[in-house]
Amino acid sequence: LKKLSNMEMEVSDEELQLLIEKIALDHNWDLSQYKPKTLKRRILTRMHLAKINSADRYYEYITENKAEYVKLLNALTVNYTYWFRDTSVWSEVLNIMAEKAFNNEEVRIWSAGCSTGQEPYSLAILARKILDKYPDRDLKFRIYASDIDDVALEKAKNGLFSKQFVNIDEQERGEYFDDFDEDNLKIKKEIQDMVEFRKLNLTKDNYYRNLDIILCRNVMIYFSKELQTDILQNFYYSLKKEGFLINGKTEVLPMKVQHLYDVVNLQEHIFKKL
Ligand SMILES: C[S@@+](CC[C@H](N)C(=O)[O-])C[C@H]1O[C@@H](n2cnc3c(N)ncnc32)[C@H](O)[C@@H]1O
Repeated sequence: LKKLSNMEMEVSDEELQLLIEKIALDHNWDLSQYKPKTLKRRILTRMHLAKINSADRYYEYITENKAEYVKLLNALTVNYTYWFRDTSVWSEVLNIMAEKAFNNEEVRIWSAGCSTGQEPYSLAILARKILDKYPDRDLKFRIYASDIDDVALEKAKNGLFSKQFVNIDEQERGEYFDDFDEDNLKIKKEIQDMVEFRKLNLTKDNYYRNLDIILCRNVMIYFSKELQTDILQNFYYSLKKEGFLINGKTEVLPMKVQHLYDVVNLQEHIFKKL
């Protein structure tokens, strides 16, 4: 076992199928439309760490070992995220938010696949900046944030972040965070209160409606083209006319939904509902 590496182990299509069925049954989470290659890689990593070299045995192992089962589920939902991810898109987001605020009673924004909260809190910080800039205008923002992953959502709601990973400069930190202890910052309550978190599975739950802006970034990369197409069609119905959709840097619109959206900024993956 000592020399075991991911290279030497394998998860066959049938074994993957069995694991997918198990997870669907136990956790009501349908992974059948996730890219098999990605799923296999993540399962192999867990098997490696648990020092188990057959998928068969790993199946039995997670049946008996709840802690490992949770670790597997966490490995399957990659939560990697950070503040103002892909810096250049956020000045565009700020402009869109301001424009929508001037022309609507309330701006309704959804961060779909929000992970541990950095994305929706980045939106809330921008909303705060706009509100502060126009104190005499009655502008309103409502920010919804959702994810499938309970652990990530819990962390997001808590609003506690390790200092070393808060990539925001000193001065701004003071405006939006309180010092919690030597190592952690806590998002200020007024920013925290601007975001409503909820558990929502993009592959089967009902979506929010009447939205002005949807951010769904670095979530669909793990989904098959068919599932991406379904989700992007649903987003279309969730958006108001001329509502904006903002995807991750590596995510492209599948052919089948291109007629639903206008390209606003190709570089930043910003689209507008037609
Ligand atoms: C890499 S994070 C992206 C976070 C953030 N949007 C960003 O760009 O930094 C991907 C998130 O998608 C979530 N996710 C994966 N499948 C999902 C599903 N079916 N429904 C909702 N969220 C899902 C994961 O739990 C994870 O938190």
